Amino acid sequence: MAHASGPAMENLTPADFVHPKSRVHFKIYATDDKVWLSFERPGDTDVSGKRELLYFIGSGRRGRSYLFAVDGFLFESPVNWYTNRHVWDMAPAYGNATEIPMNLPAFTSCLDCHVSGMQPPSPGTENRYPNPPFSFAGVTCERCHGPGAAHTKGGAIVNPAKLDPARRDAVCMQCHLEGRAAIERAGRHIYEYQPGEQLSDYIRYFVFAEQKRPGLGAVSQFEALAQSVCKIKSGDAMSCTSCHDPHYEPAAAERASFYRDKCLACHGAKFGATHQGGRGDCTACHMPSSLSLDVAHTEVTDHRILRRPNSNPPVLEDLNSQISLPRLVRFPEAQKTDEDMRDLALAWESLIESGMTAAGPETERLLRLANEKSPNDPALLSALGYTYQKKGELDRAREMYEKALAIDPTLIDAATNLGVIEANRGQLREAVRLWADAFRRAPAQSRIGMNIARVYCEAGQPAKAREYVSRVLEFNPDLREAKSLLHYLNGSPPTCKD
Ligand code: HEC
Ligand code: HEC
Ligand code: HEC
Ligand code: HEC
Ligand code: HEC
Ligand code: HEC
Repeated sequence: MAHASGPAMENLTPADFVHPKSRVHFKIYATDDKVWLSFERPGDTDVSGKRELLYFIGSGRRGRSYLFAVDGFLFESPVNWYTNRHVWDMAPAYGNATEIPMNLPAFTSCLDCHVSGMQPPSPGTENRYPNPPFSFAGVTCERCHGPGAAHTKGGAIVNPAKLDPARRDAVCMQCHLEGRAAIERAGRHIYEYQPGEQLSDYIRYFVFAEQKRPGLGAVSQFEALAQSVCKIKSGDAMSCTSCHDPHYEPAAAERASFYRDKCLACHGAKFGATHQGGRGDCTACHMPSSLSLDVAHTEVTDHRILRRPNSNPPVLEDLNSQISLPRLVRFPEAQKTDEDMRDLALAWESLIESGMTAAGPETERLLRLANEKSPNDPALLSALGYTYQKKGELDRAREMYEKALAIDPTLIDAATNLGVIEANRGQLREAVRLWADAFRRAPAQSRIGMNIARVYCEAGQPAKAREYVSRVLEFNPDLREAKSLLHYLNGSPPTCKD
C-alpha cells in the first residue's frame, strides 16, 4: 500500500502510440526531471499540446493512472498504463471516444484512497488543490494509526486491533469500500475521518440487497467477505486482519503457507492435516482469482470463500436492463433511523446520474420525504430542483435551487441548472452571473463556459465570447463545439455559427 501513488518519474515506461478512434497521437516521455504527456491529431492544428504528468496513482500490479495540473486544478490523464498488456492505452471508459477528454477531475475521493496527508480542495471547487496537493505518497502509518503516529516518541497511536469491531473495520473500509453508492453525510467529508472514529459519521455506503444472488458478484473484498460462511459464522471475531498483516506482504514462495496458517487459526491444524490429503494451498481451491485483471476497483481474489467455487468468476450483470428495481440497502447493515432518509434519497439520485433512469419515481418520492424532514439541506434541495426541472416544473425547480444556493452559494450544479432556467425565461444577465461564478470554480465543466460564450456571442460581444471559449479549450482542447465556435468568432466579421 506504500506504493499506491508516487512521483510520475518512478518506474515510468515511455510510450508513443496512436489511439485509433480519436486518431490522436500520444507520447509519454521524460526530459531532464519532468514527465510529459503530449497529444496531437495529425491534420488538426487545434489539437496539439502537452501536460506535465506529476503523480502516478496505483501500484502497477494491474496498472497506473497519472495526474496533471492546469492552473492549480488537478486532472486524471485519459491514458493509463496497463501492466498485463504492458501498454499505455485510453482509460476503459474512453476506448471508443472520438474526442479526447483532458478534463477528468481528480476528485478528493480518488486522492483520499491513494495518498496520505491530502490537502482539502479550495472552497467551492471540486479539484483545485494547494500545491503540493498531498504530503506523502501511498498509505502511511497515520492513515491506520491516527495523527499520533506522526510522533516518533510519546504520541498515543490508535491500535486498530483494540477498537470495537465497527471502528476497527472502518480503518480498512475508508479505502476498501465504494459500494453502489457512497454518500457523505451533511457537512462532512470522508477525508476528515481519523482512525478510531465511527466511519458512518462521515459517509454511508449502499449496496443492492439482490447482490447476494449468484451472478451478481460482489465488487469489493468487504462485500464479498460479508457473504462468506466464515464471516457469517465468526461474526465480529473475523476481520481483514484475520488474514492480512497490513505491515507485511508475503513473498510469492511463502504465500500459500502464510494464508494456510491464517485459515488453520480457525479451522484447526488437525483439519488441515487430513482435509484434501493435507494439500497446502487452501486459497487455490477456496479463494480463486478472477480474470478481471484490468478492472482496477473489483476484487481479484474471491473473498466469498466458497465451499465449491464456481468455475466462473462472479460477473456483474447490467442492472440497468432489469425490469424491477433492485432494493438499495445500507452496508454494513445498520439500525434504521429517521435521518437515514437523506442519505438513501441521495444514493438513489446518484444511481440515476450513473444511468439507471428507471429509478426516477422512487428517487423523487424519497427526496420529497427527506426534504420534509430536513428542509434546509442544500444537497437535497439541489437534487429535488433537478428532479422538478426534468419534469418541466420550472417554478418549483427554481424555488429549490434558490433556497439551496442561499444556504450554500458554492453549489456548482444548482447554480448551473438555475442558470439554464433563468436563460430560458430571458433573464440572461442573471444566468450569466450564476454561470460565471460556477465556471470560475469549475473551468473544466465545458458546458458552463460554452453557455456563457453563446450568450455573449448572441449579444454581439465576440471578444467576451472568445475569452470564455478559450478558457473552455484551455481545459478541454478537443471539444469539437468549442473549436468550431472559436473559428466562427475569429472570422471577419465574427459570427456565432454558420
Ligand atoms: C488510505 C487508504 C487505505 C487504507 C486505510 C487501507 N488500504 Fe489497503 N490498499 C489501499 C490501496 C490504494 C491499495 C492498492 C495499492 C495499489 O495496488 O495501488 C491497497 C492494497 C491492499 C492490499 C493488497 C496488497 C497490497 O499491499 O498492495 C491489501 C491486502 C490491503 N490493502 C489490505 C488492507 C487492510 C487489511 C487495511 C486495514 C487494516 C487496509 N488495507 C487499509 C488503500 C488503503
Ligand atoms: C474508495 C477508495 C478508492 C477510490 C475512491 C479510488 N481508489 Fe483506486 N484503488 C483503491 C484500492 C483499495 C485499490 C486496490 C484494489 C484491489 O486490489 O482490490 C485501488 C486500485 C487502483 C488501481 C490499480 C492499481 C493496481 O495496479 O492494481 C488504479 C490504477 C487506481 N486504483 C486508480 C484510481 C484513480 C485514478 C482513482 C480516482 C479517479 C481511484 N483509483 C479511486 C482504492 C480507491
Ligand atoms: C493499512 C493499515 C496500517 C498501516 C498503513 C500501518 N499499520 Fe500498524 N497496525 C495496523 C493494524 C490493523 C494493527 C493491529 C494488528 C493486529 O494486532 O491485529 C497494527 C499494529 C501496529 C503496531 C502494534 C501496536 C500495539 O500497540 O501493539 C505498531 C507498533 C504499528 N502497527 C506500527 C506501525 C507503523 C510504524 C506504521 C508505518 C510504518 C504502520 N503501523 C502502518 C494497521 C496499519
Ligand atoms: C476467523 C475464523 C476463520 C478464518 C480465519 C477462516 N475461516 Fe473458514 N470458516 C469459519 C467458520 C466458523 C466456518 C463455519 C463452518 C465451521 O464451523 O467449520 C467456516 C467455513 C468455511 C468453509 C465452508 C463454507 C461452506 O459453504 O460451508 C470453507 C470452505 C472455509 N471456511 C474455508 C476457509 C479458508 C480457505 C480459509 C483461509 C483462507 C478460512 N476458511 C479462514 C471460520 C474461519
Ligand atoms: C480468509 C482470509 C482473508 C480475509 C479475511 C481477507 N482477505 Fe484479502 N486476500 C486474501 C487472499 C488469500 C488474497 C490473495 C493474496 C495473493 O494472491 O497474494 C487476498 C487479496 C486481497 C487484496 C488484493 C486484491 C485481490 O482481490 O486479490 C486486497 C485489496 C484484499 N485482499 C483486501 C482485503 C480486505 C479489505 C479484507 C477485509 C474486508 C480482506 N482482504 C479480508 C485473503 C483474505
Ligand atoms: C484441492 C482443493 C482444496 C484444497 C487445497 C482445500 N480444500 Fe477445502 N474443500 C475442498 C472441496 C472440494 C470441499 C467441499 C467438500 C464437499 O462439499 O463435500 C472443501 C470443503 C472445505 C470445508 C468445509 C468442511 C468440509 O470438510 O467439507 C472447509 C472448512 C475447508 N474446505 C477448508 C479448507 C482449508 C482450511 C484448506 C487449507 C488447509 C482447504 N480447505 C484446502 C477443496 C479444497
